[in-house]
Amino acid sequence: MAASVTTTLLLLAATMSAAVSCVAAAFVDAGVPAVSFSSGFTMLFGEANMARSFSSGSGADDELISITLDRRSGSGFISKHYYHHGHFSADIKLPSGHTAGVVVAFYLSNADAFPDTHDELDFEFLGDRAGRPWRLQTNVYGNGSTSRGREERYLLPFDPAAAAHNFAVSWSPRAVVFSVDGVPIREVLRHGSNGNGDMGGDYPSKPMAVYATIWDGSTWATENGKYKVGYEHGPFTAQFSRLVLHGCAADGGGCAAMAGPETETMTVAPWERAAMRRWRRRQTLYTVCYDEDRYPAAAGKALPECETNAAERRMFERWGESKRLRQLQLQGQGQAPPLLVSLQQAD
Ligand SMILES: *[C@@H]1O[C@H](CO)[C@@H](O)[C@H](O)[C@H]1NC(C)=O
Repeated sequence: MAASVTTTLLLLAATMSAAVSCVAAAFVDAGVPAVSFSSGFTMLFGEANMARSFSSGSGADDELISITLDRRSGSGFISKHYYHHGHFSADIKLPSGHTAGVVVAFYLSNADAFPDTHDELDFEFLGDRAGRPWRLQTNVYGNGSTSRGREERYLLPFDPAAAAHNFAVSWSPRAVVFSVDGVPIREVLRHGSNGNGDMGGDYPSKPMAVYATIWDGSTWATENGKYKVGYEHGPFTAQFSRLVLHGCAADGGGCAAMAGPETETMTVAPWERAAMRRWRRRQTLYTVCYDEDRYPAAAGKALPECETNAAERRMFERWGESKRLRQLQLQGQGQAPPLLVSLQQAD
């Protein structure tokens, strides 16, 4: 007991002194080693639909994992440990072609441990018909706040089925930051800023495991279920590689990897902020912070952490949808507006 307290204190001291000297650019994985599947993860479901690659000869990698959805099953894996804050990322390549109804998710959750008061941080990729782009959705739940969705949706500035791209979530006691290829795309501040409010219990605060899954979201994923998974176009395979688990395992796994970005300092640095704004302006399809139909008291009140401004508000419809991207979609493909979907609704 005494020994473990001492160890914890030493780790805390090490983390804090590192934090003092560490500049807060937290979203590049450089220097943080990827973990092999067998050291960091274990199968969750659909074992027959999971494939792991070992480079012939060295046999040392085990770092590329393919999960497939076909008529029989989806597939998924889960981290061996629960983490209390940290930086988690993966290079992800999505299936191509007709992927309506297909959902690929990379997320943190503790729903198994806390069914009524669970926390969750999501990257969800929503497939579409052939020729139509994948959409990315991010979401945040804390302490069972499932009645208060915090969805945002984006088009990606690249084809996520053509090559692998990096998706990362940094979770500290102060902020959650989602990033894509090293660019922060969404920052959720626990205590708000610029006079914005406190998320209170809605901020994820309990240890979570890391998940990667592919599954059939026919009932909701593409235009609210209008387009179902077309298994004749399958199988659908998502590839995960360069998996990073950089955090403190809450269940005895230790903090051995805490050498790079320190969790206490993981907020968006000033020089990253311009890139985040630019990315968001171009790619955001929907953000809950401007959805006055859903949160009629004005977004700032229903979701206290939202940082809104008049100029940005003009870019969105009152239901939180981007006017510009909506226009492009109408001109391009006659696509219906993206509908509200989430892992919660799929349950
Ligand atoms: C979390 O939810 C439970 C049950 O609703 C509540 O009792 C508790 O106070 C909440 N915790 C926080 C930190 O808000």
